[in-house]
Amino acid sequence: MADASSAVHGGQVYAYARQTGLPEAEALAQVLDFSASINAVTPIIDWPNLLQTIQQRLPHYPDQQAVTLKQSLGARFELDADAIALTHGITAAIHDFFAAQRPAKVVLMTPLYGEYLKAAQRFAGEVIELPLQAADSPSALLAHPTFQNLPANSWVVLVNPSTPQGHFSSPQAWLPFLSHLKTQQAGLLVDEAFLPFIGFEAKHSFRQFLTEFNNLLIFQSLTKYYTCPSARLGAVFGDPELLQARFDNGWPVSVFDEQYLLQALADPTLEARTRDWLHSAKPEFIAALQTLAVVEKIYPSDANYLLLKLTRPVADIQAKLQPQGMLIRDCQSFGLDACHARIAIKLPAENARLIAALCQLEASPCC
Ligand SMILES: Cc1ncc(COP(=O)(O)O)c(C=O)c1O
Repeated sequence: MADASSAVHGGQVYAYARQTGLPEAEALAQVLDFSASINAVTPIIDWPNLLQTIQQRLPHYPDQQAVTLKQSLGARFELDADAIALTHGITAAIHDFFAAQRPAKVVLMTPLYGEYLKAAQRFAGEVIELPLQAADSPSALLAHPTFQNLPANSWVVLVNPSTPQGHFSSPQAWLPFLSHLKTQQAGLLVDEAFLPFIGFEAKHSFRQFLTEFNNLLIFQSLTKYYTCPSARLGAVFGDPELLQARFDNGWPVSVFDEQYLLQALADPTLEARTRDWLHSAKPEFIAALQTLAVVEKIYPSDANYLLLKLTRPVADIQAKLQPQGMLIRDCQSFGLDACHARIAIKLPAENARLIAALCQLEASPCC
């Protein structure tokens, strides 16, 4: 059984409750979960209205075409509804896509979300893991032997901004690479789970290339930005024919997920509130982390999380933080060593609690 500290996924609050013997409701109320990078600014939801709508709709099957939700997502992400497929979360989409597509070869730009490796190992003919450094230019990658003579139906996977570092790579720089893949009848799958934290403008996203490239798929997790990892709901953007062939799977969303997201998408304040929070909380958090003796390095991040190199194994730190109800993410499932941790940026008072707890681990200048 996954325990709260060493699991492949962050967000192990229920495992934490079982380990500590805390009732779930108490654990959910008390735990400060820095291990899952979820928006600390929650959408404004009219809960009585939401519950009433769900109650009314529950005895009926949901709209199989999810027309209203696709229109709303289309407006937010500037896409036609037929370029959007809905899935039971992106984790499920990763497995569903590889299971249906059966790629001849998958090239994973690492480190990346561990589910890609699991799915590729299960369903692809060959899997290559290619370490990608922030300094690597996509045009230089073109000359890499891995990308010469790819078999048709090969897929390259890129997470942008990257996890766990949070490095954002400009989509424009990848255009020649995308064209090269197309000439090889290969595809590019770009995971933009955390891109909304950088911005919704098309220039930040590979969405701008969708009309030109039918060998491009974008996996857009919705659970992080809209603060709803319990709603298993994600969106895939791509060529309508490819989406229909690979993601046409009955009823993709439950009425709860659909109605929650419709309200969250309609919150006109969410984008500005999220931007304001991140712009002030992030530099303040980084400045405080820099004073800690236990933090050896903070990687530059464009996203809503920070990759830290600690002076001690993450497991030691987790053992000290867990009794205080704080969880951080060990990065070994990303292929990094035992001293790397990823922490979410949360509200200033919550970040301050983590700083105070880390301060107590050893005498450090901020104490
Ligand atoms: C980069 C990345 N992509 C996709 C996912 C999947 O998210 P979800 O299944 O909640 O949509 C995660 C989850 O942590 C992630 O880190």
